Amino acid sequence: MPTVTADRLTQIGTALLQAAGATDDEARAVAIGCVDANLAGHDSHGVIAIPTYIDRIKAGHIMPGAPWTIVQESPTTTVIDGHWGFGFHVNAKAMALTIEKARTANVAACTVFRQSHVGRLAAYPLMAMRQGMIAIATADSGRSPKHVAPFGGREARLGTNPLAIAVPSDLEAPFYLDMATSAVAAGKIQLAVARGEQIPQGWIIDAEGRHTTDPTQYRKGGALLPLGGSEGYKGSGLAAMVEVLCGLLTGLGFGVEPTGRHNDGVFMAVFNVAAFRPLQQFKREVAEFAHYLKSTPPSDGSSGVFYPGELESIRAQQRRRDGIAIENATWDNFKALAAEYNLASTLDLA
Ligand SMILES: NC(=O)c1ccc[n+]([C@@H]2O[C@H](COP(=O)([O-])OP(=O)(O)OC[C@H]3O[C@@H](n4cnc5c(N)ncnc54)[C@H](O)[C@@H]3O)[C@@H](O)[C@H]2O)c1
Repeated sequence: MPTVTADRLTQIGTALLQAAGATDDEARAVAIGCVDANLAGHDSHGVIAIPTYIDRIKAGHIMPGAPWTIVQESPTTTVIDGHWGFGFHVNAKAMALTIEKARTANVAACTVFRQSHVGRLAAYPLMAMRQGMIAIATADSGRSPKHVAPFGGREARLGTNPLAIAVPSDLEAPFYLDMATSAVAAGKIQLAVARGEQIPQGWIIDAEGRHTTDPTQYRKGGALLPLGGSEGYKGSGLAAMVEVLCGLLTGLGFGVEPTGRHNDGVFMAVFNVAAFRPLQQFKREVAEFAHYLKSTPPSDGSSGVFYPGELESIRAQQRRRDGIAIENATWDNFKALAAEYNLASTLDLA
């Protein structure tokens, strides 16, 4: 597998997306968002997805240069139509507006619909965290095909419906949770297939409802399991609530629509910390809390406690230093796209 620097990957992703029709702003937002996911260690949401996004442009599912419109708003709420634009771009604009509303009103929320994949969900609450605010974001994939079997069921009826919460603190590595409500993100199954690896027991069931470690069974009628193993009813319940916020509150609805156009419905809420506690004091206490969690002796076989978001920052430091390993299949896809767009010599992907 080639190992590539974050800057070079961003340059490659931006160039390919621009060649496929994305505007400069869109191409950079998507490429930076994907590379940030690779840096955080979530390769399933990294540059592996760029060829898929380009396929969706070609299929007319993603509209480069799409307008971004407010359908309904109040001083604290906004409903945003992304007109099938790039989720990375549409959703960042939605979060920027919600932060501005929370700066005035202390609490603000928005829903976003008709946008493509938003990628690593943490990216948006982290924008608010940098402004001294707490933010929560949830996402579902609209009425495109489902991935997760509800607890006790055999067929997929839910999305991987992620949830991300970010909190300002004095910590060097940000304190944020960013997780699918399924056992893992669906992209991790694709990644295991691309790398020819087995997956842990408890991630998926096959078409007959049996547990399996073979990731290829997922595409043969299998389904992801909800978060929580034998207590998967809690993950299943969380996923259902995310779908209510992102599918029903946005008006996208539930279930599968046969044309299967990918559509990330998103709900986001921002809380200005200063309206509740002095910001500096709160940030110090969150850092103290993280150190308190970490100060417990490790349990048997564990390497100790990491607070939410800490591992992602450790990985990002390593990957900025050592580069990001890109699976051969993804690199081959980049080479084919570079050839298609006459960028082979400019991008030098040999
Ligand atoms: N846009 C979408 O439609 C979509 C859908 C699903 C998932 N996703 C993204 O996929 C990514 C991966 O999600 P996931 O659930 O597979 O990731 P995951 O299982 O690695 O869980 C990630 C969360 O758990 C924490 N964590 C992980 N290991 C830990 C440990 N040992 N100790 C303490 N905390 C730990 C991380 O800090 C992070 O907050 C996320 O970025 C998510 O937003 C996006």
